[in-house]
Amino acid sequence: MDGATAVEAVDGDTEFWADGGSLRSALREVPPRIPPHFGYDDLGSQLFEEITELPNYYLTRVEDRLLRRHADEIADAVGTPWVAELGSGSGKKTRALLAACAARRDTTYLPIDVSREMLVSSGDALATEHPEVAVRGLWGRYEAGLGWIRRERTAPVTAMLLGSTLGNGTAVERRALLAEVAGTLAPGDRFLVSADLVKPADVLERCYNDPPGHSAFARFRLNHLTHLNRRFDGDFALEHFRPEAHYTERIQAVEGHLHATAEHVAHLRALGVSMVFRPGDVINVGISAKFDPGGLAEEVRELGLVPGRSWVDEHWRYGIFLFHRR
Ligand code: SAH
Ligand code: AVI
Repeated sequence: MDGATAVEAVDGDTEFWADGGSLRSALREVPPRIPPHFGYDDLGSQLFEEITELPNYYLTRVEDRLLRRHADEIADAVGTPWVAELGSGSGKKTRALLAACAARRDTTYLPIDVSREMLVSSGDALATEHPEVAVRGLWGRYEAGLGWIRRERTAPVTAMLLGSTLGNGTAVERRALLAEVAGTLAPGDRFLVSADLVKPADVLERCYNDPPGHSAFARFRLNHLTHLNRRFDGDFALEHFRPEAHYTERIQAVEGHLHATAEHVAHLRALGVSMVFRPGDVINVGISAKFDPGGLAEEVRELGLVPGRSWVDEHWRYGIFLFHRR
């Protein structure tokens, strides 16, 4: 990868991809689940970018508008020289905010992502558009990036988690991630988090299933299996799975599923895993929790952060919420 952006491996070099521990235990859940970061190899990252362009996937467009419209106010409220972004992806939406931050103070951007390609390409694009922002990419999982910040920080920092990515873990994973963030922030630091808000099931199911003529979601979900086959010497047969998403009211989350369509056995030989599937069995390949602002504030407040300003779109679809570490 020949980009100009400085990227540091913070998560045991490339080995984190081979860490099958979290995968093995998630595959033992009922139904079996693939943890979200396995969705983001090179191809998965590109497929997520395709998803953001789907006509019914409103999240990226609504958040982008909010970030552009309120960039100056958010930059004022953020107020820190360091801005770290967990799961930064293409970073496209973040650029207007970073430019507004850099207009106010020297700004160093620290994108954290498991996708090295995304860190380099997004860092290079930012350097071209906004050379006034210093960029230092942190390649690895969220916890490793936050650990690096705890060790190396030399300035107040805002941790950002955009794209409603907070919703991609289970409730337990979400609490653990929030606790890591809260444990990293020092007095004067900030947490900026965005969230897709609860809405009717039919709107969410249209948003998270491919409309006619499109296949980005189907390919994104099936690619989890391709990725596992490659990493762990596996033989998941993609033709025996049908991708689909539905909203489960009880947990206020869209669940992305792969439904088995034939009786078969799949193996991940490098992990010593064998799985028997019958028609109708499912693998969970993505949770997208939906939030109400009060509930989110409560979850974050419990970890010792204090709610500050928020920016919600006029149709109450999506919000960006700032918290302070006092
Ligand atoms: N924030 C961007 C991208 C969202 S997609 C946006 O709003 O468009 C989720 C991003 O998080 C991907 O780039 C993926 O590679 C990254 N990611 C997922 N799980 C991760 C983890 N455990 N640690 C670090 N990055 C992760
Ligand atoms: C990245 N994430 C916030 C998206 C979402 O809408 O939940 C994409 C996704 N991830 C897993 N399933 C879907």
